[in-house]
Amino acid sequence: MRLLPLFVLPFLFGGLVAECPNSALLLNESGEKLCARMFEHSSAYFDQSCGGAYLDAKNGDDFPYMPSGWKNKISSLVVSSRCTLKVWSKEGKLGNNRSFSAGTVYQMKDYKNGLFGNWNDSVQAYFCTCN
Ligand SMILES: *[C@@H]1O[C@H](CO)[C@@H](O)[C@H](O)[C@H]1NC(C)=O
Ligand SMILES: *[C@@H]1O[C@H](CO)[C@@H](O)[C@H](O)[C@H]1NC(C)=O
Ligand SMILES: *[C@@H]1O[C@H](CO)[C@@H](O)[C@H](O)[C@H]1NC(C)=O
Repeated sequence: MRLLPLFVLPFLFGGLVAECPNSALLLNESGEKLCARMFEHSSAYFDQSCGGAYLDAKNGDDFPYMPSGWKNKISSLVVSSRCTLKVWSKEGKLGNNRSFSAGTVYQMKDYKNGLFGNWNDSVQAYFCTCN
């Protein structure tokens, strides 16, 4: 078997291996400060978390109903420094709620939602604010 040159590896795995962005430098591609970035996938391996599609929240974003395609989709997230992301388990900001302050949530699964549930794929509303 022929070995691949090492420099090819980052390209091969580039689509699989994610890395959560730094909450102190959470900017979008235009360089604007974000309140939070929410991701479709998570991983028990922290350096592979924050994968898949992502949804950006800016300061003041208030979504009692998720943007199209994002209902019950969020599995990991990063909240920017000096910001807070509040989430609800039911549309219209009903059901259980929880606030995430600045930092990285590698797995929403690790956060309890009600008696038996967790927050993986369970966000149906959010509100993000920074001070
Ligand atoms: C991020 O980038 C886009 C343009 O690519 C811009 O329209 C958007 O409002 C920016 N800011 C935030 C905070 O999402
Ligand atoms: C969050 O949940 C608590 C406990 O059920 C409730 O008392 C509170 O009103 C909720 N807060 C919001 C902003 O929905
Ligand atoms: C999150 O929920 C989705 C859909 O139910 C599931 O495929 C995925 O494995 C869950 N992730 C974790 C870490 O439990």
